Amino acid sequence: MVDSVGIMDITSALTQELHSVALRVARSCAQLLVEQRPADLGVAATKASATDVVTEMDRRSEDLAVELIRQARPHDGFFGEEGTHEAGTSGITWIVDPIDGTVNYLYSLPAYAVSVAAVEGDPQIDGGWRPVAAAVANVALDEVFHAQRGGGSFVVGPQGERQLRFSGARELGQSLLATGFGYEATTRAQQGLLVAELLPKVRDIRRIGSAALDMCWVASGQLDAYYEAGCYPWDFAGGWLIASEAGAVVRSFDGDFPTHKLLCVGRRETVDYLTEFVAARSQTQDQKEAKRN
Ligand code: IPD
Repeated sequence: MVDSVGIMDITSALTQELHSVALRVARSCAQLLVEQRPADLGVAATKASATDVVTEMDRRSEDLAVELIRQARPHDGFFGEEGTHEAGTSGITWIVDPIDGTVNYLYSLPAYAVSVAAVEGDPQIDGGWRPVAAAVANVALDEVFHAQRGGGSFVVGPQGERQLRFSGARELGQSLLATGFGYEATTRAQQGLLVAELLPKVRDIRRIGSAALDMCWVASGQLDAYYEAGCYPWDFAGGWLIASEAGAVVRSFDGDFPTHKLLCVGRRETVDYLTEFVAARSQTQDQKEAKRN
């Protein structure tokens, strides 16, 4: 059966199969990133701006993910950050960020991830898709966050495996808030104004550099909340399932699903506040722009 946004009834056997493929792919790509990192790793190309880099390893990691997913699930679609966009026939699409936190990887800062999510629906329609199973490998710490719909979220690493249960700070003033910035200078300038206004209202702010890890760290309670505007499905597909299965709310301006316009994760009261806060500032910015033009 399929509902109005193309969401199917998915059996638990299929969910489990997708979950084990997600884990296998995330682990294999993580291993590739560590073991085959060239000593002289450099920037292979830029995307949205000169600061939006892609390395040779982003491409190799995506190629490996495509190969492994094709072997395991030849009829599924693929939607990868580095440009592999293929429609499938099974109703399942894999959304993959082969390195989330590419700039950290380039600079050897230990906060980058591989995010692999199996989703149903159309990833190009806001609110028209939902993750079913996901794995986010936190490569530098050799741990993997993972979840399947209805089955809770877990992290497995050198210390063993534990279930994640989100419980963020009740008060905004005691919240450790994470955010991120886009790659375009004008977008960043606006995001900077917003951060300047929020900073005195919260415990502190982190800019970690990997949206997938930001979401997983809200799930694990290492952050209280996270918001960012301008992210893409590959940045948030895996983290969405992991955070929501841990009990966090994931929302945008339009409802309880993330979009390119906004992604907010945390307690209901906090994300509602942040959503309104960002909406009000964006309207003011839009009015100022309109006056200037
Ligand atoms: C980026 C990271 C970063 C976020 C950017 C993303 P990438 O992904 O998740 O934290 O602030 O919006 O584009 O480019 O490293 O895959």
